[in-house]
Amino acid sequence: MTSVEGKSVIVTGAAGGIGRATCELMARQGWKVLAVDRDAEKLAWTDASDGIRSAVADISSEADNQRIVAECESAFGGVDAVILNAALSLNGGIDDFPMEDFDRLVAVNLRGTVLGIRAALPALRRRGGGSITVTASAHGLGGDVGFWAYSSTKHAVVGVVKCVAREVGWEGIRVNAVCPGPTRATGLSTEFEEQAPDVFHGLAKAIPVQRWGEPQEVAAALAFIASPAASYITGIAMPVDGGTISGSGCLPPAAAPDSN
Ligand SMILES: NC(=O)c1ccc[n+]([C@@H]2O[C@H](COP(=O)([O-])OP(=O)(O)OC[C@H]3O[C@@H](n4cnc5c(N)ncnc54)[C@H](O)[C@@H]3O)[C@@H](O)[C@H]2O)c1
Repeated sequence: MTSVEGKSVIVTGAAGGIGRATCELMARQGWKVLAVDRDAEKLAWTDASDGIRSAVADISSEADNQRIVAECESAFGGVDAVILNAALSLNGGIDDFPMEDFDRLVAVNLRGTVLGIRAALPALRRRGGGSITVTASAHGLGGDVGFWAYSSTKHAVVGVVKCVAREVGWEGIRVNAVCPGPTRATGLSTEFEEQAPDVFHGLAKAIPVQRWGEPQEVAAALAFIASPAASYITGIAMPVDGGTISGSGCLPPAAAPDSN
């Protein structure tokens, strides 16, 4: 019983790199997709796509989260899966990072994810079960200089996922996190490339597979974890990171003999 034909999914952050790739993949797989973002202009790509409906919403608003769940139910007859993928990334050191930026990160990345889960649960129960998948980050599993604020919100959502999975598993609702490593061609990676080009271009050497990931590679993991094919998987935080967080930190990964 792993068919997704006719099932419906809400994907937030759908105007961005990973969210769009996820919507496109899941629509091809047969899901009915509600693509959600706060950026109406960048959601315009959905106009030309079959099986994908769009909604403009701010995930830090409780009312918006409830509205998109209601819209998915009235448009598609129910909600079978929710992929809470929207997030902000703001970086800087611990001494002088603006506290208002920290508050924004918490409001969107942590509180927004919690609001998304709370809005989705009644709809998933009405359907007799389903899945919630949160896009966390490799920064939800480990830390880096300048990432304490973003990373703390991503560690927190991993904690939420693990606890809620234990609370609602008996109801047939699975709750998981997917933790992307460096993923190119997204709003977040473009910002990183502009702000720190040397670090951006040197980073591949620290990744065992020696390259940045593609949004489609993260989308494949999100679509699988959200689907009935992953029916016995819940409460996990799965890295999709080319091996980035596999190391002890003592030595760099092996590189091809002809690389310098
Ligand atoms: N790109 C990477 O290297 C990387 C690595 C680890 C984790 N991630 C995570 O992947 C997810 C997707 O990010 P991406 O890389 O595609 O970046 P992206 O910037 O391309 O996409 C993020 C999207 O979220 C939307 N968004 C932000 N705040 C919102 C709000 N309040 N309400 C509704 N929408 C909002 C933005 O408009 C944007 O379209 C995020 O959770 C991010 O933290 C990305």
